[in-house]
Amino acid sequence: MSAPRFPREWSDIKSIAGQVLRERTRNNAASWLDEEGGFGTGWSFRRNREAFEELAFEMHLLHDIKSPRTETTVLGQRLSAPIMIAPMSRMINVVCGAETFTLLARGAKMAGVAASAGHPATFQELTSMVAEGAPVFRTIKPLRDDAAFVAAVRDAERAGSFAIAMDIDAIAGLNGSGDEPRHGELNGPLSPSEVKARRKETHLPFVLKGIMSVRDAVTAVEVGADAIIVSNHGAHILDYCQPSIKVLPKIADAVGDAVEVWLDSGVRRGSDVLKALALGADAVLIGRVALWGLALGGAEGVAHVLDLLRLELQRNMLLTGVASVEQASPEIVV
Ligand SMILES: Cc1cc2nc3c(=O)[nH]c(=O)nc-3n(C[C@H](O)[C@H](O)[C@H](O)COP(=O)(O)O)c2cc1C
Repeated sequence: MSAPRFPREWSDIKSIAGQVLRERTRNNAASWLDEEGGFGTGWSFRRNREAFEELAFEMHLLHDIKSPRTETTVLGQRLSAPIMIAPMSRMINVVCGAETFTLLARGAKMAGVAASAGHPATFQELTSMVAEGAPVFRTIKPLRDDAAFVAAVRDAERAGSFAIAMDIDAIAGLNGSGDEPRHGELNGPLSPSEVKARRKETHLPFVLKGIMSVRDAVTAVEVGADAIIVSNHGAHILDYCQPSIKVLPKIADAVGDAVEVWLDSGVRRGSDVLKALALGADAVLIGRVALWGLALGGAEGVAHVLDLLRLELQRNMLLTGVASVEQASPEIVV
């Protein structure tokens, strides 16, 4: 369980994280704290939150559920709740120094969930994340250079990553604030056959991140993905981009059980987690909330925000009559 010294109100968490992030970051504090941000006009950034805010629950109280079960598995990995730490690039090292990736993985382990490493991530960074004991997966940019992509895959495999993800939306020259622009390498877009060739490079489960349409979701299944992440990269990529929670239902419908469906972009509360599960997600990922936790208190701060999300999720499940995360269905959300 989380340390009692941390606040339990999100407004207090953000205000403490704000002091730290403003000191340690130059340009990103406002975006990382949700005050403003995203690419271009910031429309996608605002809509990511508004779309969650527009959804309300239908209460169901006459039932015999006493303790809703939040445990689940993603790609065979057991988690205490369907929540993971989203991949973030090394620029987040400004929060806690060179140990930041490791602290995220340690926090994930303490909370019983999984974490991802963004791009770039060295073999040593991945190894130290995996050594913390949490399930860790590596997210690699859609590198045009085949050899560089394969080298990154081999490093991840050797380090013990449980899956390989590719953020297909991270295209060189099009990245906005909040992500490292190029890493000195040229990224996609990649054609379906190029993605398929990259998928064949690994025996590990393969995850495509940045799926925002039924068309891409269907292609993801065709090229052999095992999971997709419905994500607009936390609004970093495309101005006037639909929120992921809006496109989720039709994507979940289209892919059925062919792949696991994960979602990120705008998740801030346990209620958001339940909304996403109800509308077809198997799990969610958090980016900025994990940064608040890091700023609050390193690995323990990360575990604290993850625990809060799980407890809020469980409370909301009780009040909507959902016995287990697999049983969340659209009828509880209006
Ligand atoms: C500082 C920062 C760096 C990020 N770097 C990456 C990255 O390297 N690869 C990636 O796939 N996504 C990256 N993302 C996007 C996250 O994985 C995730 O999609 C997004 O943060 C989810 O939205 P949220 O912040 O509203 O939770 C980054 C996000 C942030 C905030």
